[in-house]
Amino acid sequence: MNNQLTPNLKNERHAMEVINESDVMETEEIISKLNDLVALEFNAIETYEVAIERLENLDYRAKMTEFLGEHERHLMDLCDAIIQEGGTPLDGGDYKQFLTKGPVIVAGIGGDKSVLKAMLLNEGLTNKLYKNANDEIYPGYIQLMLKQALGDVRHHRVWIESAIEQLD
Ligand SMILES: [Fe+2]
Repeated sequence: MNNQLTPNLKNERHAMEVINESDVMETEEIISKLNDLVALEFNAIETYEVAIERLENLDYRAKMTEFLGEHERHLMDLCDAIIQEGGTPLDGGDYKQFLTKGPVIVAGIGGDKSVLKAMLLNEGLTNKLYKNANDEIYPGYIQLMLKQALGDVRHHRVWIESAIEQLD
């Protein structure tokens, strides 16, 4: 049997669709790609922590703290999936090799608008990488988790964009 019935989450108009097994990623590739997202989330979390310290407006701080909690949940879900697939999640030390400049940029600037603009750049990266991840064929439970995470980071980006607009 080369083909199996698999829920196709990428096309909800056809709930069940035949997917060739060769289209589903190898376990090693799944683990490697999920670990790239773990690095992304460690970096996002650090960026949020720096931003929350620097923001003066308490409403912004509260919202960023809420979003930070969602990134922490993404990180836990990614680590759970990696373990489920038989891999080892990166830890907080390993990820530094993937470090983007987010936390450094946020730490070096002042004023809520500048902090939010730096956060928007950072959220552009999370949106891009989760969008890419949603275009791949992962096992169903991982696709569901990645879809939820993409929804979260899209919401973050829209919220930050509108907060910046209101400061113009
Ligand atoms: Fe975010």
